[in-house]
Amino acid sequence: MPVTRSVLIRHVRPYGEGDPVDVAVVDGEITEIGVDLTAPEGAATLDGRGGILLPGFVDLHTHLREPGREDTETVDSGSRAAARGGYTAVFAMANTAPVADNAAITDHVWRMGQEVGLVDVHPVGAVTVGLEGEQLAEMGMMAAGVAQVKLFSDDGKCVHDPVIMKRALEYSKGLGVLISQHSEDPRLTVGAVAHDGPTAARLGLAGWPRAAEESIVVRDALLARDAGARVHIAHASTAGTVELLKWAHGQGIAITAEVTPHHLLLDDSRLESYDGVNRVNPPLREESDKLALRAALAEGVIDCVATDHAPHAAQEKCCEFSQARPGMLGLETAVSIIVETMVEPGLLDWRGVARVMSERPAQIVGLDDQGRPIAVGEPANLTIIDPDRSWTVRGDHLASRSANTPFEEMTLPGVVTATLLRGTVTAERTASSSDEPGEWA
Ligand code: NCD
Ligand code: ZN
Ligand code: ZN
Repeated sequence: MPVTRSVLIRHVRPYGEGDPVDVAVVDGEITEIGVDLTAPEGAATLDGRGGILLPGFVDLHTHLREPGREDTETVDSGSRAAARGGYTAVFAMANTAPVADNAAITDHVWRMGQEVGLVDVHPVGAVTVGLEGEQLAEMGMMAAGVAQVKLFSDDGKCVHDPVIMKRALEYSKGLGVLISQHSEDPRLTVGAVAHDGPTAARLGLAGWPRAAEESIVVRDALLARDAGARVHIAHASTAGTVELLKWAHGQGIAITAEVTPHHLLLDDSRLESYDGVNRVNPPLREESDKLALRAALAEGVIDCVATDHAPHAAQEKCCEFSQARPGMLGLETAVSIIVETMVEPGLLDWRGVARVMSERPAQIVGLDDQGRPIAVGEPANLTIIDPDRSWTVRGDHLASRSANTPFEEMTLPGVVTATLLRGTVTAERTASSSDEPGEWA
């Protein structure tokens, strides 16, 4: 039976521009944009309260932990977190247990996502069998499956053998898919837990040098050039990576890159507390890297924001720093961090937010139903943001099954008030009379 996904969204400002308008949606598609519209037949009404209407966000880098670590996140809980964060599509990384290195698993993850129905969960396929870096996985089978896998990555690990990476890029070109590289030369990061700089030296933490990332970025740019393939750099974290991306673009190399919210807001001064919540790969770098990443995102040298949402259980984070698992939650806080680091300082306007959180990621990976203009005839994958409200992050209150947010107790600007996937409301905050953010319905 077809579901009627019809709704009248009242009082929203597309891209934060102009006076509020209404947006009518019938069967998941935008049918009219104008002032004082009448609700389509059978449509629900959603009060946008003058908020900013943006295309739903697309995350190229999410860890949902299912199968294998359902105690820390599931497709269900991660989808809920994504919808509350304004996302309508996420790419679920392959470092699950078992690894998503075959079509049975990638199709299973896709189906679970469709069953939950809150966000399109696109499985990422592993590049190598078991993330072992030795034998290429059956990328073609995964691409041809129900999930139509478009993105491949051994994330968590780097495809460090240049011969394997070269071959993987050649295959990816033939298949029309994209490889996302976790750039980390493992020989340079043995035992490393923190950015290799003065802070780690002072605190006695083993350092992860910038060169471990940058040497792989430049190597993969050259391999992509020679293969005539595209390559995507996951979680870019250094000023040097930004310079290498500029160089590669100048050479006409088809390289794209993402940056995480945490690398835009935090730096290694956070490590003073020895709190394991701040351990992440790549590590939090220095202030100068952070500022270079912000400028690169504003200028389009870095294409997009990706969360690297990495849930971990309390016992895996609340322990000695060097024993803590690397990774931080990101889905529910992402847009607020972008408002704080990019919008408020004047580096991006709301069109720019739509570009880096929705349009570019959708284009990079070739999703044709996401990151679309807000216009008649387009799918109603949308999110509404109230830029004038703020909220205080509490890990325990997040939809995620884990609570490892580095933003605990921070008051952040920008509140997602509703998200719609093909016209269905997937997250909604109740109205609040004060400037409180309101509760999730
Ligand atoms: C990720 C994880 O926990 O799976 N951790 C992290 O620190 N970012 C893996 C990864 O993205 O490399
Ligand atoms: Zn990674
Ligand atoms: Zn990751």
